[in-house]
Amino acid sequence: MEQKLFDPTDGSVSTEIYASPAIYEQELQSIFGRSWLFLCPSSEVVGTGSFYSTYMGEDPVIVARQKDGSLKVFLNQCRHRGMRVCTADAGVTRAFTCVYHGWVYGLDGGLAGVPHLADAYFNDLDRSRFGLHEAPRVAEYKGLVFANWDPDAVDFTDYLGDMAWYLDAFLDRWDGGLEAIPGVHKWVINTNWKLPSEQFCGDLYHSETTHVSALMALAGDDADPDEVDPFKSLAGYQFSSPMGHGHGFSIVEYPDFAGPVVDRYRVATLPSAEARLGYYRARMRGHGTVFPNFSFLSGYHTVRAWHPRGPGQVEVWAWGLVPKEAPADVRDAWRKSILQTFSPAGYIEQDDGVNLVEIQRILAGRRARQSRFNVAMALGHEQAPVDGFDGPGRVHNSMFAEMAARGFYSRWGELMRAAPGQNESPARLGAD
Ligand code: FES
Ligand code: FE
Repeated sequence: MEQKLFDPTDGSVSTEIYASPAIYEQELQSIFGRSWLFLCPSSEVVGTGSFYSTYMGEDPVIVARQKDGSLKVFLNQCRHRGMRVCTADAGVTRAFTCVYHGWVYGLDGGLAGVPHLADAYFNDLDRSRFGLHEAPRVAEYKGLVFANWDPDAVDFTDYLGDMAWYLDAFLDRWDGGLEAIPGVHKWVINTNWKLPSEQFCGDLYHSETTHVSALMALAGDDADPDEVDPFKSLAGYQFSSPMGHGHGFSIVEYPDFAGPVVDRYRVATLPSAEARLGYYRARMRGHGTVFPNFSFLSGYHTVRAWHPRGPGQVEVWAWGLVPKEAPADVRDAWRKSILQTFSPAGYIEQDDGVNLVEIQRILAGRRARQSRFNVAMALGHEQAPVDGFDGPGRVHNSMFAEMAARGFYSRWGELMRAAPGQNESPARLGAD
């Protein structure tokens, strides 16, 4: 019998899943058509009429703040002949006017105006039937906007499940919460979307090798190489969710390389964070992915969506998030740190890009596409925390493992096999 695309018994993955156009096409329906997808920070759509253009999978969408303060998400496709009805990246408006023939849609997505409705259409066009297609499910979660095309999807907080406990350690760490630094970084990497998304979900193992030069450069000329390596001890944890989410992290007093201004602010705010979140969550630093394609780094304060662009390309949209109540010098130090590390020009981002692009290039080869990758680290050796760490769900007592990667691919396989409408029953939540 042919081996599964992902085989949880030996932790192996078929390389087909990164290269096959047929699998990619199915993903757009089975994964991106019914998962909760990250759209933008709430701070991009604040007042009535503010809108933001982004994507759900390959589908362009508009996020629009309504008069009642709620958000609606529309497919950015005119109901006449399919042009984008919004060609701006963001702004404030009362209506969206298609640039092709001039159909006008209200902020609520309804078709409000049609040029020559009386003399060319003879008033024979039922405008109520031609509003913009709307994503049926939208959620704002602690300053982040998500949406889902599946009307039967579980609520977003149920979708997060235990992952909320870990994600909140990042989002609730600061008094007053987080907001986006104005502007978004967008860039293209010639790699399959799952490679970076799964890496953020469960691969801290690469950091010690891939990023060693960058970490030494950021630490400065006088740094002792032995002291630069944050991974010399594997002290930390990995969390894996049955919904495909994952998080790898350590418990630290100081963050990465944002500098002394940020360090002082972090120390000053530690007591209130600890009162809110407890000892461990006030000190967590690591990376995570909310399945399928939203990732964050709690040390470096970047969040991003990995928008798929065919089997061999991903378009990254990344924001820096900073505490709303932090003084201007702290926010600016964070901004510069993000530029230096995790941005298109960042040292560390580029290290990752080299690996991701090369892996995809190799998969152009016929023999290479018959290989299987190994995500078997710690398979059969998963061990609960031994030192009092009390996070919920399935947690392994080391920051190096591929348990979360296996969880990511298990969930991916479930959705690819499941019939529409049968993938998200609440009874499924919590099952392993
Ligand atoms: Fe939009 Fe014709 S395509 S008005
Ligand atoms: Fe990396």
